[in-house]
Amino acid sequence: MRAYEVTNTSGLDGLVLNADRPTPEPGPGQIAVRMRATSLNARDHGVTRGIYGYTKFPVIPLSDGAGEVTAVGPGVTQFKPGDRVASTFFQTWSGGRMPADVSRNSLGGMLDGVLAEQVVLPQPGAIHVPDHLSFAEAATLPCAALTAWHALIEAGGLKAGETVAVLGTGGVSCFAVQFAKMHQAKVFLTSSSDVKLARAQALGADHTINYRATPDWDQEILKQTGGAGVDHVLEVGGPNTLEKSMAAVRPGGSIYVIGAVAGAGQINPRIINRKAITLKGIHVGPRDMFANMNRAIAATGLRPAIDQTFPFADAKRAYEYQASGAHFGKIVISVD
Ligand SMILES: NC(=O)c1ccc[n+]([C@@H]2O[C@H](COP(=O)([O-])OP(=O)(O)OC[C@H]3O[C@@H](n4cnc5c(N)ncnc54)[C@H](OP(=O)(O)O)[C@@H]3O)[C@@H](O)[C@H]2O)c1
Repeated sequence: MRAYEVTNTSGLDGLVLNADRPTPEPGPGQIAVRMRATSLNARDHGVTRGIYGYTKFPVIPLSDGAGEVTAVGPGVTQFKPGDRVASTFFQTWSGGRMPADVSRNSLGGMLDGVLAEQVVLPQPGAIHVPDHLSFAEAATLPCAALTAWHALIEAGGLKAGETVAVLGTGGVSCFAVQFAKMHQAKVFLTSSSDVKLARAQALGADHTINYRATPDWDQEILKQTGGAGVDHVLEVGGPNTLEKSMAAVRPGGSIYVIGAVAGAGQINPRIINRKAITLKGIHVGPRDMFANMNRAIAATGLRPAIDQTFPFADAKRAYEYQASGAHFGKIVISVD
C-alpha cells in the first residue's frame, strides 16, 4: 500500500512516500480502516522537525483521519465492515483521568498515524462519525474539534448567553466559534486578516478584532463587554498572548491553555490570583468526549470549516500551505 513516512527531523525533506509499505491486517480486538481523508494539525509540523517530543522515526504521520472499516479481528464488537469511522488522537484514553503515558499513545507521534491507504486501529482507537459528514469533514474532528469541545463544553460547561474570546482562525479556533454558537454564547474573535474576520462572522463570530490593526485587542474586548471581560478564553497563542487573555477575561473567568501559535513572550502571573482566573490546560481529549461531541454535531448538523482539500500525491503542498498561515479552519489531504 501507499503511505507517507516521516523519516527524520529535517522537515518536509524527510517526508517521503513509500509505495511498497506492507498492508497491515487486523489482529484480535483490532479493525482495518481504508482511509479516505486525513487532516493536518499544527503539531504535525513539529513531528517533521523533531520538536514534538513524542515521536519515533520512521513514523506514518497525522493523527486525524476518516474512512471505512474493511475488516475486523476476533473479539471486535463495536464495528463491522462498511462502518464509517474516524481515528482517535490518543489510542488509549477512553475516558476518565488522563493516563500518565497518554502522550506516548498518539497517532502520528510514537504510533503510526493515518496518512496511508489502510491503517489498523484497536477498537478504542476509532469512533463512528456522524452520518451527514463527508469523509473529509469527519477527518477534521479527532484533534482540533475535540480540543475546542473539551475546553469550552466539557471543562468550561459553557452556558447560553456567556461570552467567549477566540484567538485567530486556525482549526481549533474555528471549531470553538461553532461550538460556542451551538450553545448560544457570544463570540469575540481576533485575526490578522480582515478577509478572515469576514469569514469568521459568516461562521458565527459576533464581534471581530484585527489584532494587527488593534494590538491592544484585550482592551477592545473589555470595552465591548462594558468593562466586564469575557467568561471564557480559548488560548491558542501561548506566552505571547496569555497576559492579554488574562486582561480580557472577567474576574473568576476561565482560560483554556491550548497552544502557542504566537511565539515566545513573558508572563506576569500576579493577575491570576488578583482576578481569581482559572487556567485549565487542555490536551485534546478522551474518546467518551469525542462521542459527546459527535452526538451534538449530528443533532445540530454542524459542518466543519475546511479551507482546502489536497490530493494524496500533494501532501507536501498541504503541509506548506498550513505552515504559510493562509488557511481558515482545516486543511484536508484526501486518500484517493
Ligand atoms: N493542547 C492541545 O490539545 C492542542 C490541540 C490542538 C492544537 N493545539 C495547539 O493549538 C494551536 C492552534 O492549533 P491549530 O491546529 O488551530 O493551528 P492552525 O490551524 O495552524 O492555526 C494557526 C492560526 O493561528 C493564528 N495566530 C497566529 N498568531 C497569532 C496571534 N499572535 N494571535 C492570535 N492568533 C494567532 C492565525 O490566525 P489568523 O490567520 O486568523 O491571524 C493562524 O492562522 C497550536 O499551537 C497547536 O499546537 C493544541
